[in-house]
Amino acid sequence: MTRIPLPDGFILGVATSAYQIEGAIDVGGRGASIWDTFSQTPGKTAGDVPGDAGADGYDRLEEDLDILLDLGVQSYRFSISWSRLIPDGTGAVSPEGAAFYDRVINGLIARGITPNVTLYHWDLPQTLQDRGGWADRAIVEWFAYYARTAFTLFGDRVRMWATLNEPIAIWVGYGLGTFPPGIADALTGKTAMHHAMLAHGRAVQEFRALGIDGSVGIVIDVWKRHAITETAENHQLVDRDEDDSFRFFFDALFAGGLSERLVRRLQKDGTMPAVQPGDAGITGTPMDFLGLNVYGRVLVDAENYDPAWWKQDGEFPGGNYLSNGIELYPEALIDAVRIVRDDYAVTLPIYITENGTTADDGEIQDGVKSDDDRIAYLSAFLAKAVEAHELGLGVEGYYAWTLMDNYEWTAAYTARFGLVDVDVDGSFDRTYKKSAYWFKQLAQDRILQMPAPEGDA
Ligand code: BGC
Repeated sequence: MTRIPLPDGFILGVATSAYQIEGAIDVGGRGASIWDTFSQTPGKTAGDVPGDAGADGYDRLEEDLDILLDLGVQSYRFSISWSRLIPDGTGAVSPEGAAFYDRVINGLIARGITPNVTLYHWDLPQTLQDRGGWADRAIVEWFAYYARTAFTLFGDRVRMWATLNEPIAIWVGYGLGTFPPGIADALTGKTAMHHAMLAHGRAVQEFRALGIDGSVGIVIDVWKRHAITETAENHQLVDRDEDDSFRFFFDALFAGGLSERLVRRLQKDGTMPAVQPGDAGITGTPMDFLGLNVYGRVLVDAENYDPAWWKQDGEFPGGNYLSNGIELYPEALIDAVRIVRDDYAVTLPIYITENGTTADDGEIQDGVKSDDDRIAYLSAFLAKAVEAHELGLGVEGYYAWTLMDNYEWTAAYTARFGLVDVDVDGSFDRTYKKSAYWFKQLAQDRILQMPAPEGDA
């Protein structure tokens, strides 16, 4: 075994999101979100199972807070449901909604756990979708209002804020149509992405204007593209795919706007969003940290390319695969950090805000689901996060995705990422998997035990 101590001050956390865990969609005056509408529409999710129940997290808040305490989680990353806090999106605050998040935040603090709050993890109020949603530039101010409201209500206790989680999901909803609101139009999709970055920038401005004590950032997922073979076509596709995904956001955040290469192509394709003078100043409003969600890499193969999907499936020659078919490529974490530092000169503190995997957790030993693949995956990535920290690359923490099995978007309950098993077919009872016990030990010792590399004695 190799023993890797977690550096002093390095945050070890877990993450969830509101829609995936809360349920209680009709409780306390909560307004509908686009995920309610979409997941209740036949043909949109695996088995037509809607996300109405989440993981029953609203009703089980105290139990889940106690699990976080028992696991030794230092920081809990969760999101606020916009339509629970402000049912119609732009109007009055729901007292019940505000009281719920007070209970979450106060419950965490009482247990010594640092809240890390994301404002938007994909669950737009349906009322705002009815007014155009992310495709309407008015959303920039709708979001600024929501952000200001949340900062004002909770900013006295929450010190870590992220505006958006993985804004690429907005492309999936407006460009590809496989997420809500189900619009498949490239110009609309790119426009919505631009509005999302403006909304982010305005929220950061609101944070500064209120003088909130703490830090604010954004969460971007990076899936570096790798050409399957060294051909010009593959390399063009690598650039194209990266430009359309994480580079779109990094350009807006750190490079004064979209790259010339991307602008040229979007103009040629007729999919260039309308950019107004001053936009780059808004999207590039300086932040305090960057959250990176890292799960793996994407293979690019021009001969086998599906532009209607956000990433290609396919195996890397010689890749290292888990039994569920997912590649274990922990170098993806270093790749992501190097992209932001080398290509965008970012020196902000970086948190790995999500990393996790589904695993074949069917096998039960002594009443515990044994998910060794998950432990291997999380360990390998956490080791890379520590390595990145030691290399001086600014990685200051790591959050495992996710605390417990929950509603995995269009996959419904067919893909489970939790450390804790949830009986999603019935009781919603929570049971630790082997990985939960692993996490607890790790949090206690702050030493990651890695199997020695093959060949070592
Ligand atoms: C999302 C999570 C999701 C996870 C696993 C991330 O892209 O932020 O909401 O559950 O991936 O698919």
